[in-house]
Amino acid sequence: MSRDGFGSKIGVIAAAAGSAVGLGNIYRFPCELGNNGGGAFLLVYLLIVICLGIPVMLSEFVIGRSTQKNPIGAFKTLRPRSAWPVFGYLGVFCAFIIMAFYSTVAGWTLEYIVKAVGNQFQGKDLATIEGEFEAFHQVGWKNVLWQCIFIFLTGFVVFKGVADGIEKYAKILMPLLVVILIVLGVKSLTLPGAGEGFSFLFKPDFSKITGPVLVSALGQAFFSLSMGMGVLITYGSYIKKDDNMATTALSVTLADTLVAVLAGVVIFPAAFSFGVQPTAGMGLVFSTLPMIFNQMTGGYIFCIIFFVLLAVAALTSTISLLEVIVAYLVEEVHITRRWATVLASAGCMAVGVFASLSLKQGTSLTIAGMSFFDGLDFLSAKILLPVGAFFIVLFVGWIMGKKWFNTELTNEGKLKLSIKGVIFFIIKYLAPLAIAVIFISGFL
Ligand code: PFF
Repeated sequence: MSRDGFGSKIGVIAAAAGSAVGLGNIYRFPCELGNNGGGAFLLVYLLIVICLGIPVMLSEFVIGRSTQKNPIGAFKTLRPRSAWPVFGYLGVFCAFIIMAFYSTVAGWTLEYIVKAVGNQFQGKDLATIEGEFEAFHQVGWKNVLWQCIFIFLTGFVVFKGVADGIEKYAKILMPLLVVILIVLGVKSLTLPGAGEGFSFLFKPDFSKITGPVLVSALGQAFFSLSMGMGVLITYGSYIKKDDNMATTALSVTLADTLVAVLAGVVIFPAAFSFGVQPTAGMGLVFSTLPMIFNQMTGGYIFCIIFFVLLAVAALTSTISLLEVIVAYLVEEVHITRRWATVLASAGCMAVGVFASLSLKQGTSLTIAGMSFFDGLDFLSAKILLPVGAFFIVLFVGWIMGKKWFNTELTNEGKLKLSIKGVIFFIIKYLAPLAIAVIFISGFL
């Protein structure tokens, strides 16, 4: 079967960075940081990204490129008639779960583009903007509609196979997102009382580092880098045999981390200045940002551009999620790409609707004491991704081994990578140990 699908003709850096940079950086990262002790969370997060990010990412790339397959096919090829393909299935399941709640927030970006164009934030105070955000959640059909539109858009791109076109845009638009974040960061830092927010972000209080904080940072790191579930195996399968995977992994990790930290610099100083609690969760982003635009010269235009860029960033991430499910259905279940896309999109909508509706006040859509939305978020980021990543590094480190890994990583010896020994050591020993210890510490 020809594998000229998504991502084959474009730089895989753009595709993987497009998957990594998204709502996870701008919406989820501030939420997690605010709820988990600020600077202490940032410190742990950065440590995890630096120590584990690149090795885990490379493990996925190597599995993907060596087999040229989707996650399930890849495990089947490398270890036929074993239980390992289970982790491929787990990845597809996880993509489905993430898509279901991620598309809820992605839908909000569309609502906010409309609001921005209609100049609906202008002159409003924080309480009004917060109130309107809350009221929006009570209108279930509107959330569901935007969500379905977003999933439809994703399906359209994945089906048309125009993802490489989108990624070409993303190559221009994502740097623009960074520029806008810098401009917003400068504005945020010069607001009265911003210093307190800056300290909250960058001054770690070590007493805040607890098991649940560690798990949150681990989950956020994997979520943000799109790791632990096969997206990067799938993208790895499109990497050319003479590409340097190590520099690809480094670039993606740096870009993703830059955007997350910048988002923190935009959100927290402004939130403290306006009196938004760092534990405000979703409101942290969806109320604080309009407030910043309200106070800026040219805020009207900036606001529109920002939410359009955010929607595009979300789209390049949802494309990668849907692509994992579609690639599986096409290559393993042998249905056409058209039907695979329809089926995958419909499935995501069917479950996603409950995530959107569960944000209504007094909802009965709960699991384990959380809203269905939070439940899916918790299940994917704090359980499935760490478990998936754990078994991926175990597979590479202990089942496939050093010779196989190094041969693939160095393009059969053509690349000189002096740190390959360190990377493999982390994959074999440090990463599984760290993931296991953190995971267990969070549930003790
Ligand atoms: N990394 C994306 C973000 O930070 O927004 C979300 C995501 C995409 C998670 C793809 C996992 C994934 F497989």
